[in-house]
Amino acid sequence: MIKSTSYKPRAFNLSGLKGISDKTMETHFKLYEGYVKQTNELSEKVAELLGKGKVDQDQFPDYSELKRRLGFEYNGMVLHEYYFENLKKDAGGDPAPSSPFHRQAEATFGDYKLWKADFMGIGKMRGVGWAVCYQEPGNGRLSNHWITLHETGNVAGYKPILVMDVWEHAYLFDYKPADRPKYIEAFFANIDWKSVAQRLEKKSPKKK
Ligand SMILES: [Fe+2]
Repeated sequence: MIKSTSYKPRAFNLSGLKGISDKTMETHFKLYEGYVKQTNELSEKVAELLGKGKVDQDQFPDYSELKRRLGFEYNGMVLHEYYFENLKKDAGGDPAPSSPFHRQAEATFGDYKLWKADFMGIGKMRGVGWAVCYQEPGNGRLSNHWITLHETGNVAGYKPILVMDVWEHAYLFDYKPADRPKYIEAFFANIDWKSVAQRLEKKSPKKK
């Protein structure tokens, strides 16, 4: 019998953010806990199906469905942890020009403002998902991507550096759906750049 890992929801102290209410965050934490629970439950069910050392043919449809759902729930859990971890109370807006992230954005995009325009642009895209800034492991370059739901669009092997949830549940108590750009401004006012910098590998982008 394989052993499935049992995850525990992490606790984040994020009351008093600018432009994102405590009610939103409390609701969001509950949703996140749901992803952790589902990840554990699906993993256990998969482990049960594998209990006899193979998946029986008549159980294959169930096994396939569990594995598909696991991709959604697992990414939902992990992306929320990145998201909560890159927020903090009393944050100061954009990173300082001398900060590691600012320098990396400049090195990749030529200008921090261009990186930001790209990341914010992704956040404003229609649909349900995430804007994620990754670092390419081979050369250290930053790369911004749209993730549909939680699992479609993640780049294999790339490391999430800054993660922004743009599902409506992330802001609907505070802003109308059409006002997503206001939520994105609020997100930027609360970024914990120190936490972001800790995720960065110290690599300079190579000139191509
Ligand atoms: Fe969310």
